[in-house]
Amino acid sequence: MQPPNLVLVPGTPDDRLSSGRTSIVHVVGARPNFVKMAPVIAALDRRDVFRQVVVHTGQHYDSRMSDEVLADLDFPAVDVFLGVGSGTHGAQTAKVLSEFERVLIDVAPDVVLVAGDVNSTLACALAASKLGIAIAHLESGLRSFDWSMPEEINRVLTDRLADILFTHSPEAGDNLEAEGIDRSRVYYVGNTMIDSLRRCERRARAVKAWEAIGMAERSYVLVTLHRPSNVDDPGRLDRIVDGLVGLAAHAPVVFPIHPRTRARLADDGGLDRLSTAGVACIEPAAYLEFLSLQSGAGAIVTDSGGIQEEASALGISCYTFRPNTERPVTLTHGTNLLLGEDPAEISEVRPSSHPPTPCAIPLWDGRAGERVADALVANYAMVSQHVGAHG
Ligand code: UD1
Repeated sequence: MQPPNLVLVPGTPDDRLSSGRTSIVHVVGARPNFVKMAPVIAALDRRDVFRQVVVHTGQHYDSRMSDEVLADLDFPAVDVFLGVGSGTHGAQTAKVLSEFERVLIDVAPDVVLVAGDVNSTLACALAASKLGIAIAHLESGLRSFDWSMPEEINRVLTDRLADILFTHSPEAGDNLEAEGIDRSRVYYVGNTMIDSLRRCERRARAVKAWEAIGMAERSYVLVTLHRPSNVDDPGRLDRIVDGLVGLAAHAPVVFPIHPRTRARLADDGGLDRLSTAGVACIEPAAYLEFLSLQSGAGAIVTDSGGIQEEASALGISCYTFRPNTERPVTLTHGTNLLLGEDPAEISEVRPSSHPPTPCAIPLWDGRAGERVADALVANYAMVSQHVGAHG
């Protein structure tokens, strides 16, 4: 079901605007945005310098993909919900662009903060850019150098539009410099996703989500797959199902299934084959439940970006089912291994019963949101008419 169109939460943006302070609009739209943005909004709240307005584009709208994740994170109330829903890349991006432009004209913020690499990120950056509003980009500089990924297009273009760029690893800063972005606009702040993880880790461990599905801690392999390159081609998805069936012959498998993947699997009988093989096919997990499943896993197989990072922070072996990663720091300093593209490799993964050793990646210390907030205050507080860095 598609969500309703533009819904203005009564009163809130106007109330905030009437306070006469510098205003910042935060954009969230898809599941990973919520996790990255929550620590920044909380850190800015503590500083009480900006009027903060939270805009949710509605790119993700299912309860498991949005509301439940927001609740787990104690995310502040959303001020404006655009309700764009799903669509082709062009349609979804265009809808966010035009709806968000209306909000920007209404709210007239001094700065817009966007996060990550989803369609909402690029669309909102573009809308802000066209109106001459300053843009800050959280999680800048990641590059897979794989132009067939929609996220790579979103990352490169958003970074090009951004005035200040927050990076989570030195390599990301190097990528930006190689593209001609001046170092003076780049802030190496660390990883706000790990701030959320550290804040919620204890609560998540207490959930012991593996028990509800009859699994023992460290006995199972946790699987997530949602990249179009893996799940959209029925032939390839069929071979991936073969790989998972092979894996399930050796170890229990827990598979929270993304809506995109579930739809494709349901179309071609893959879901039945997985269930028959004993794979625990479950609904997408909300944030705490998924963190719990990760913390109790013996290994993780994924094509997600954020999970490579969370697995490293938790110390769980992560096998990334992709030929590349835009997060090389998880290979050099974390627990991540590239499994490649051959679905047969999936059946070779084994859970480890050893206790995990969480990785200490520089600046992934639970305080990245504070550093982002400091930089935003230093750049934008008290500036009434900011002119973007591009002039
Ligand atoms: C998006 C991001 C991806 C990110 C992922 C995290 C882009 C281009 N991709 O991929 O980078 O890793 O989110 O989950 O922005 N759907 C639902 N309910 C929802 C949301 C989606 O059923 O709440 C279904 C719809 O059929 C939709 C499909 O999932 O067409 C894909 O959703 P979409 O937001 O376009 O891309 P994701 O695959 O979720």
